[in-house]
Amino acid sequence: MKSLKRNLFFTALAAVALALAGCKPSSESKTGAADTIKVGEFASLTGKEAAFGQSSHKGTLLAVEEINAAGGVLGKKIEFIYEDNRSTPGESATVVKKLITRDHVVAVLGEVASGRSLEAAPICQANKIPQISPSSTNPKVTETGDYIFRVCFIDPFQGTVMAKFAKSRLNAKNVAVLSDVAAPYSLGLAQYFKETFLADGGTVVSEQKFSSGDKDFKAQLTAIKAANPDAIFVPCYYTEAGLIVRQARQLGITVPLFGGDGWEAPELIQIGGEALEGCYYSTHYSPEDKSPAVQEFVSKFKAKNNGEIPDAMAALGYDSAMVLADAIKRAGTTDSVKLRDAIAATKDYAGVTGKTSLDANRNATKPAVILAIKDGKFKYVETISP
Ligand code: PHE
Repeated sequence: MKSLKRNLFFTALAAVALALAGCKPSSESKTGAADTIKVGEFASLTGKEAAFGQSSHKGTLLAVEEINAAGGVLGKKIEFIYEDNRSTPGESATVVKKLITRDHVVAVLGEVASGRSLEAAPICQANKIPQISPSSTNPKVTETGDYIFRVCFIDPFQGTVMAKFAKSRLNAKNVAVLSDVAAPYSLGLAQYFKETFLADGGTVVSEQKFSSGDKDFKAQLTAIKAANPDAIFVPCYYTEAGLIVRQARQLGITVPLFGGDGWEAPELIQIGGEALEGCYYSTHYSPEDKSPAVQEFVSKFKAKNNGEIPDAMAALGYDSAMVLADAIKRAGTTDSVKLRDAIAATKDYAGVTGKTSLDANRNATKPAVILAIKDGKFKYVETISP
Protein backbone atom coordinates (compact mmCIF):
# COMPACT_ATOMS: atom_id res chain seq x y z
CA MET A 1 0.00 0.00 0.00
CA LYS A 2 1.32 3.38 -0.92
CA SER A 3 1.76 5.61 2.08
CA LEU A 4 0.22 8.54 0.29
CA LYS A 5 -2.52 6.97 -1.66
CA ARG A 6 -3.98 9.37 -4.08
CA ASN A 7 -7.32 8.71 -5.50
CA LEU A 8 -9.19 10.40 -8.20
CA PHE A 9 -12.87 9.87 -8.05
CA PHE A 10 -14.98 10.87 -10.92
CA THR A 11 -18.59 9.96 -11.47
CA ALA A 12 -19.66 10.04 -15.07
CA LEU A 13 -23.15 8.64 -14.60
CA ALA A 14 -25.37 7.80 -11.70
CA ALA A 15 -24.42 4.18 -11.40
CA VAL A 16 -20.99 4.38 -12.94
CA ALA A 17 -18.28 5.13 -10.44
CA LEU A 18 -14.68 4.79 -11.39
CA ALA A 19 -12.08 4.81 -8.65
CA LEU A 20 -8.47 4.91 -9.68
CA ALA A 21 -5.92 4.38 -6.94
CA GLY A 22 -2.49 5.89 -7.32
CA CYS A 23 -3.21 7.52 -10.65
CA LYS A 24 -1.76 10.76 -11.91
CA PRO A 25 -3.84 13.88 -11.44
CA SER A 26 -5.62 15.23 -14.46
CA SER A 27 -3.79 18.53 -14.08
CA GLU A 28 -3.86 19.11 -17.82
CA SER A 29 -7.38 20.57 -17.55
CA LYS A 30 -6.88 24.32 -17.50
CA THR A 31 -8.37 26.42 -14.75
CA GLY A 32 -11.43 28.22 -16.02
CA ALA A 33 -11.73 26.08 -19.11
CA ALA A 34 -11.89 22.84 -17.15
CA ASP A 35 -14.65 20.44 -18.07
CA THR A 36 -15.07 19.41 -14.45
CA ILE A 37 -15.22 21.21 -11.13
CA LYS A 38 -12.49 19.89 -8.87
CA VAL A 39 -13.37 19.50 -5.23
CA GLY A 40 -10.78 18.26 -2.75
CA GLU A 41 -11.23 16.32 0.46
CA PHE A 42 -8.72 15.34 3.14
CA ALA A 43 -9.61 12.69 5.67
CA SER A 44 -8.19 10.22 8.18
CA LEU A 45 -8.90 7.23 5.95
CA THR A 46 -6.33 5.12 7.79
CA GLY A 47 -4.57 5.28 11.15
CA LYS A 48 -5.79 5.95 14.65
CA GLU A 49 -9.01 7.81 13.79
CA ALA A 50 -9.79 5.93 10.57
CA ALA A 51 -13.37 5.45 11.75
CA PHE A 52 -13.86 9.23 11.52
CA GLY A 53 -12.32 9.62 8.08
CA GLN A 54 -13.98 6.57 6.56
CA SER A 55 -17.39 7.55 7.79
CA SER A 56 -17.16 11.19 6.78
CA HIS A 57 -15.70 10.23 3.40
CA LYS A 58 -18.51 7.80 2.62
CA GLY A 59 -21.09 10.46 3.35
CA THR A 60 -19.24 13.03 1.24
CA LEU A 61 -18.86 10.58 -1.64
CA LEU A 62 -22.56 9.75 -1.58
CA ALA A 63 -23.37 13.46 -1.94
CA VAL A 64 -20.92 13.93 -4.82
CA GLU A 65 -22.37 10.94 -6.66
CA GLU A 66 -25.89 12.26 -6.23
CA ILE A 67 -24.90 15.72 -7.40
CA ASN A 68 -23.23 14.26 -10.49
CA ALA A 69 -26.12 11.91 -11.19
CA ALA A 70 -28.40 14.93 -11.20
CA GLY A 71 -26.22 16.60 -13.85
CA GLY A 72 -23.50 18.15 -11.69
CA VAL A 73 -23.20 21.87 -11.02
CA LEU A 74 -23.06 24.70 -13.56
CA GLY A 75 -23.34 22.05 -16.26
CA LYS A 76 -20.16 20.30 -15.09
CA LYS A 77 -19.49 17.15 -13.13
CA ILE A 78 -17.72 17.36 -9.82
CA GLU A 79 -14.31 15.73 -9.92
CA PHE A 80 -13.74 14.56 -6.39
CA ILE A 81 -10.09 14.29 -5.40
CA TYR A 82 -9.39 12.94 -1.95
CA GLU A 83 -6.32 12.43 0.17
CA ASP A 84 -5.56 10.35 3.26
CA ASN A 85 -3.72 12.07 6.12
CA ARG A 86 -3.35 8.72 7.93
CA SER A 87 -4.50 10.41 11.19
CA THR A 88 -0.93 11.65 11.38
CA PRO A 89 0.10 15.15 12.56
CA GLY A 90 1.68 17.19 9.76
CA GLU A 91 0.11 15.13 6.99
CA SER A 92 -3.02 17.25 6.60
CA ALA A 93 -0.94 20.30 5.75
CA THR A 94 1.01 18.31 3.17
CA VAL A 95 -2.00 16.81 1.41
CA VAL A 96 -4.02 20.02 1.42
CA LYS A 97 -1.11 21.90 -0.16
CA LYS A 98 -1.09 19.25 -2.86
CA LEU A 99 -4.82 19.51 -3.43
CA ILE A 100 -4.52 23.26 -3.90
CA THR A 101 -1.26 23.68 -5.81
CA ARG A 102 -1.13 20.50 -7.84
CA ASP A 103 -4.79 19.63 -8.36
CA HIS A 104 -6.19 23.18 -8.35
CA VAL A 105 -9.32 22.27 -6.41
CA VAL A 106 -11.90 25.04 -6.07
CA ALA A 107 -12.71 24.13 -2.46
CA VAL A 108 -11.56 21.74 0.24
CA LEU A 109 -13.85 19.56 2.36
CA GLY A 110 -12.56 18.31 5.73
CA GLU A 111 -11.71 17.39 8.38
CA VAL A 112 -13.46 15.68 11.27
CA ALA A 113 -10.84 16.22 14.00
CA SER A 114 -10.36 19.88 14.87
CA GLY A 115 -6.57 19.52 15.14
CA ARG A 116 -6.37 18.39 11.53
CA SER A 117 -8.79 21.06 10.28
CA LEU A 118 -6.59 23.58 12.08
CA GLU A 119 -3.55 22.32 10.18
CA ALA A 120 -5.23 22.85 6.82
CA ALA A 121 -7.06 26.09 7.54
CA PRO A 122 -4.10 28.53 7.30
CA ILE A 123 -3.17 26.96 3.95
CA CYS A 124 -6.69 27.30 2.53
CA GLN A 125 -6.93 30.82 3.90
CA ALA A 126 -3.57 31.91 2.41
CA ASN A 127 -4.57 30.50 -0.97
CA LYS A 128 -8.12 31.88 -0.80
CA ILE A 129 -9.57 28.42 -1.29
CA PRO A 130 -12.75 27.90 0.73
CA GLN A 131 -12.55 25.09 3.28
CA ILE A 132 -15.69 23.55 4.73
CA SER A 133 -15.20 21.32 7.74
CA PRO A 134 -18.09 18.90 8.14
CA SER A 135 -17.66 18.23 11.82
CA SER A 136 -14.76 20.02 13.53
CA THR A 137 -16.25 21.76 16.54
CA ASN A 138 -13.36 23.74 18.05
CA PRO A 139 -14.03 27.49 17.60
CA LYS A 140 -10.47 28.20 16.44
CA VAL A 141 -11.02 26.34 13.17
CA THR A 142 -13.19 29.02 11.56
CA GLU A 143 -11.44 31.83 13.46
CA THR A 144 -8.46 31.13 11.18
CA GLY A 145 -10.01 33.35 8.53
CA ASP A 146 -12.88 34.26 6.26
CA TYR A 147 -12.37 31.33 3.85
CA ILE A 148 -12.93 28.73 6.57
CA PHE A 149 -16.43 27.37 7.27
CA ARG A 150 -18.12 24.51 9.08
CA VAL A 151 -21.58 22.97 8.83
CA CYS A 152 -21.80 21.84 12.47
CA PHE A 153 -22.22 23.46 15.89
CA ILE A 154 -19.20 24.55 17.97
CA ASP A 155 -17.88 23.32 21.31
CA PRO A 156 -18.99 26.21 23.53
CA PHE A 157 -22.49 24.91 22.73
CA GLN A 158 -21.58 21.21 23.04
CA GLY A 159 -19.81 21.86 26.36
CA THR A 160 -22.85 23.70 27.69
CA VAL A 161 -25.15 20.89 26.58
CA MET A 162 -23.11 18.29 28.45
CA ALA A 163 -22.73 20.45 31.57
CA LYS A 164 -26.51 20.88 31.76
CA PHE A 165 -26.98 17.18 31.04
CA ALA A 166 -24.59 16.21 33.85
CA LYS A 167 -26.47 18.39 36.29
CA SER A 168 -30.04 17.63 35.31
CA ARG A 169 -29.95 14.04 34.02
CA LEU A 170 -27.00 12.55 35.91
CA ASN A 171 -27.73 14.61 39.05
CA ALA A 172 -24.02 15.30 39.26
CA LYS A 173 -22.79 18.00 41.62
CA ASN A 174 -19.17 16.92 41.65
CA VAL A 175 -17.52 15.87 38.42
CA ALA A 176 -14.04 14.87 37.31
CA VAL A 177 -12.68 15.82 33.89
CA LEU A 178 -10.12 13.78 31.97
CA SER A 179 -8.86 15.37 28.75
CA ASP A 180 -6.27 14.93 26.01
CA VAL A 181 -3.53 17.58 25.94
CA ALA A 182 -2.62 16.66 22.36
CA ALA A 183 -6.06 17.41 20.88
CA PRO A 184 -7.32 21.00 20.62
CA TYR A 185 -10.83 19.53 20.49
CA SER A 186 -10.41 17.83 23.85
CA LEU A 187 -8.90 20.80 25.70
CA GLY A 188 -11.50 23.18 24.29
CA LEU A 189 -14.47 20.99 25.11
CA ALA A 190 -13.16 20.36 28.64
CA GLN A 191 -12.87 24.11 29.18
CA TYR A 192 -16.34 25.00 27.83
CA PHE A 193 -17.89 22.19 29.86
CA LYS A 194 -16.23 23.43 33.05
CA GLU A 195 -17.27 27.03 32.49
CA THR A 196 -20.97 26.15 32.38
CA PHE A 197 -20.81 23.44 35.04
CA LEU A 198 -19.11 25.80 37.52
CA ALA A 199 -21.40 28.70 36.63
CA ASP A 200 -24.37 26.44 37.39
CA GLY A 201 -23.01 25.76 40.88
CA GLY A 202 -21.24 22.47 40.24
CA THR A 203 -17.74 21.52 41.39
CA VAL A 204 -14.90 19.99 39.41
CA VAL A 205 -13.27 17.73 42.00
CA SER A 206 -10.44 16.42 39.83
CA GLU A 207 -8.90 17.42 36.53
CA GLN A 208 -6.60 14.95 34.85
CA LYS A 209 -4.77 14.88 31.53
CA PHE A 210 -3.30 12.39 29.10
CA SER A 211 -1.89 12.51 25.59
CA SER A 212 -3.37 10.96 22.40
CA GLY A 213 -2.02 7.47 21.92
CA ASP A 214 -1.68 6.73 25.66
CA LYS A 215 -2.95 3.31 26.62
CA ASP A 216 -2.72 3.26 30.40
CA PHE A 217 -4.96 5.67 32.29
CA LYS A 218 -4.78 3.99 35.70
CA ALA A 219 -2.83 6.79 37.41
CA GLN A 220 -5.33 9.46 36.33
CA LEU A 221 -8.31 7.23 37.14
CA THR A 222 -6.93 6.37 40.58
CA ALA A 223 -6.67 10.09 41.36
CA ILE A 224 -10.21 10.60 40.06
CA LYS A 225 -11.55 7.74 42.15
CA ALA A 226 -10.01 9.25 45.28
CA ALA A 227 -11.87 12.52 44.58
CA ASN A 228 -15.18 10.62 44.58
CA PRO A 229 -17.00 12.35 41.68
CA ASP A 230 -20.65 11.73 40.78
CA ALA A 231 -19.72 11.44 37.10
CA ILE A 232 -16.63 11.75 34.88
CA PHE A 233 -16.46 13.87 31.73
CA VAL A 234 -14.07 12.45 29.13
CA PRO A 235 -13.95 14.73 26.08
CA CYS A 236 -11.65 12.80 23.75
CA TYR A 237 -11.73 10.45 20.75
CA TYR A 238 -13.12 6.93 20.73
CA THR A 239 -9.88 4.92 21.03
CA GLU A 240 -8.84 6.49 24.32
CA ALA A 241 -12.45 6.84 25.51
CA GLY A 242 -13.03 3.08 25.14
CA LEU A 243 -9.86 2.27 27.07
CA ILE A 244 -10.60 4.85 29.77
CA VAL A 245 -14.09 3.54 30.45
CA ARG A 246 -12.84 -0.04 30.55
CA GLN A 247 -10.00 0.80 32.96
CA ALA A 248 -12.31 2.89 35.14
CA ARG A 249 -14.55 -0.14 35.67
CA GLN A 250 -11.51 -2.33 36.37
CA LEU A 251 -10.57 0.09 39.14
CA GLY A 252 -14.04 -0.22 40.65
CA ILE A 253 -15.34 3.15 39.48
CA THR A 254 -19.09 2.74 39.01
CA VAL A 255 -20.28 6.30 38.26
CA PRO A 256 -21.27 7.23 34.67
CA LEU A 257 -18.63 8.45 32.27
CA PHE A 258 -19.73 10.73 29.47
CA GLY A 259 -18.19 12.45 26.48
CA GLY A 260 -18.74 14.53 23.38
CA ASP A 261 -18.98 13.71 19.68
CA GLY A 262 -15.44 12.28 19.70
CA TRP A 263 -16.92 9.10 21.18
CA GLU A 264 -18.93 8.45 18.04
CA ALA A 265 -17.61 5.31 16.33
CA PRO A 266 -18.57 1.62 16.40
CA GLU A 267 -14.98 1.06 17.54
CA LEU A 268 -15.86 2.71 20.86
CA ILE A 269 -17.99 -0.29 21.73
CA GLN A 270 -15.46 -2.77 20.36
CA ILE A 271 -12.81 -1.26 22.65
CA GLY A 272 -14.91 -0.43 25.70
CA GLY A 273 -17.28 -3.40 25.61
CA GLU A 274 -19.70 -3.87 28.48
CA ALA A 275 -17.92 -1.26 30.57
CA LEU A 276 -19.72 1.36 28.47
CA GLU A 277 -23.24 0.40 29.57
CA GLY A 278 -24.91 3.44 31.08
CA CYS A 279 -22.44 5.92 29.58
CA TYR A 280 -23.52 8.86 27.40
CA TYR A 281 -22.21 11.21 24.75
CA SER A 282 -23.40 14.14 22.69
CA THR A 283 -23.33 14.23 18.91
CA HIS A 284 -24.90 15.86 15.86
CA TYR A 285 -27.59 13.50 14.68
CA SER A 286 -29.21 10.15 15.31
CA PRO A 287 -30.03 7.65 12.57
CA GLU A 288 -33.13 6.84 14.67
CA ASP A 289 -34.51 10.29 13.84
CA LYS A 290 -37.83 9.69 12.08
CA SER A 291 -37.64 12.77 9.84
CA PRO A 292 -37.92 11.94 6.12
CA ALA A 293 -34.58 13.64 5.36
CA VAL A 294 -32.76 11.40 7.85
CA GLN A 295 -34.57 8.21 6.90
CA GLU A 296 -34.01 8.77 3.18
CA PHE A 297 -30.30 9.37 3.83
CA VAL A 298 -30.02 6.28 6.05
CA SER A 299 -31.55 4.04 3.39
CA LYS A 300 -29.43 5.45 0.55
CA PHE A 301 -26.28 5.16 2.62
CA LYS A 302 -27.07 1.59 3.69
CA ALA A 303 -27.80 0.54 0.13
CA LYS A 304 -24.41 1.81 -1.01
CA ASN A 305 -22.36 0.62 1.99
CA ASN A 306 -23.38 -2.98 2.71
CA GLY A 307 -26.05 -2.11 5.22
CA GLU A 308 -23.81 0.13 7.31
CA ILE A 309 -25.81 2.65 9.34
CA PRO A 310 -24.48 6.17 8.80
CA ASP A 311 -23.31 8.04 11.89
CA ALA A 312 -22.92 11.79 12.51
CA MET A 313 -19.69 12.08 10.53
CA ALA A 314 -21.33 10.52 7.49
CA ALA A 315 -24.35 12.82 7.76
CA LEU A 316 -22.20 15.93 8.17
CA GLY A 317 -19.83 14.83 5.40
CA TYR A 318 -22.84 14.53 3.12
CA ASP A 319 -24.17 17.94 4.13
CA SER A 320 -20.75 19.59 3.68
CA ALA A 321 -20.63 18.57 0.00
CA MET A 322 -24.27 19.54 -0.54
CA VAL A 323 -23.75 22.98 1.01
CA LEU A 324 -20.72 23.50 -1.25
CA ALA A 325 -22.62 22.45 -4.39
CA ASP A 326 -25.51 24.73 -3.44
CA ALA A 327 -23.08 27.64 -3.02
CA ILE A 328 -21.36 26.97 -6.37
CA LYS A 329 -24.80 27.04 -8.04
CA ARG A 330 -25.76 30.30 -6.34
CA ALA A 331 -22.36 31.85 -7.14
CA GLY A 332 -22.74 30.81 -10.77
CA THR A 333 -18.97 30.44 -10.86
CA THR A 334 -16.10 28.79 -9.02
CA ASP A 335 -14.19 32.07 -8.79
CA SER A 336 -12.79 31.88 -5.28
CA VAL A 337 -13.96 35.27 -4.00
CA LYS A 338 -17.49 34.80 -5.33
CA LEU A 339 -17.63 31.22 -4.11
CA ARG A 340 -16.49 32.29 -0.65
CA ASP A 341 -19.23 34.91 -0.55
CA ALA A 342 -21.86 32.40 -1.67
CA ILE A 343 -20.85 29.88 1.01
CA ALA A 344 -20.92 32.66 3.61
CA ALA A 345 -24.46 33.53 2.48
CA THR A 346 -25.75 29.97 3.09
CA LYS A 347 -29.13 30.27 4.74
CA ASP A 348 -31.60 27.55 5.73
CA TYR A 349 -30.02 24.92 3.52
CA ALA A 350 -32.12 21.86 4.37
CA GLY A 351 -29.80 18.87 4.80
CA VAL A 352 -29.66 15.62 6.74
CA THR A 353 -28.46 17.30 9.94
CA GLY A 354 -31.15 19.96 9.83
CA LYS A 355 -31.02 23.43 8.39
CA THR A 356 -27.61 24.95 7.78
CA SER A 357 -27.33 28.72 8.11
CA LEU A 358 -23.86 30.17 8.42
CA ASP A 359 -23.43 33.01 10.90
CA ALA A 360 -21.01 35.94 10.71
CA ASN A 361 -18.30 33.67 12.16
CA ARG A 362 -18.93 31.03 9.47
CA ASN A 363 -20.34 28.51 11.95
CA ALA A 364 -23.65 26.66 11.86
CA THR A 365 -26.11 26.55 14.72
CA LYS A 366 -27.73 23.15 15.11
CA PRO A 367 -29.25 21.03 17.86
CA ALA A 368 -27.16 18.45 19.71
CA VAL A 369 -28.32 14.89 20.21
CA ILE A 370 -27.53 12.83 23.29
CA LEU A 371 -27.03 9.10 22.91
CA ALA A 372 -26.72 6.43 25.59
CA ILE A 373 -24.86 3.15 25.31
CA LYS A 374 -27.31 0.38 26.07
CA ASP A 375 -27.01 -3.34 25.32
CA GLY A 376 -23.90 -2.62 23.29
CA LYS A 377 -25.70 -0.12 21.05
CA PHE A 378 -26.07 3.63 20.72
CA LYS A 379 -29.56 4.66 21.78
CA TYR A 380 -31.20 8.01 21.22
CA VAL A 381 -31.93 9.87 24.47
CA GLU A 382 -32.81 13.46 23.63
CA THR A 383 -32.28 16.41 21.32
CA ILE A 384 -31.13 19.71 22.81
CA SER A 385 -31.72 22.84 20.77
CA PRO A 386 -29.46 25.88 21.01
N1 PHE B 1 -15.96 17.42 16.75
C1 PHE B 1 -14.77 16.62 16.76
C2 PHE B 1 -13.56 17.54 16.66
O1 PHE B 1 -13.72 18.69 16.46
C3 PHE B 1 -14.75 15.60 15.67
C4 PHE B 1 -15.95 14.69 15.57
C5 PHE B 1 -17.11 15.11 14.94
C6 PHE B 1 -15.92 13.42 16.06
C7 PHE B 1 -18.24 14.28 14.83
C8 PHE B 1 -17.02 12.59 15.96
C9 PHE B 1 -18.20 13.04 15.37
O2 PHE B 1 -12.43 17.14 16.73
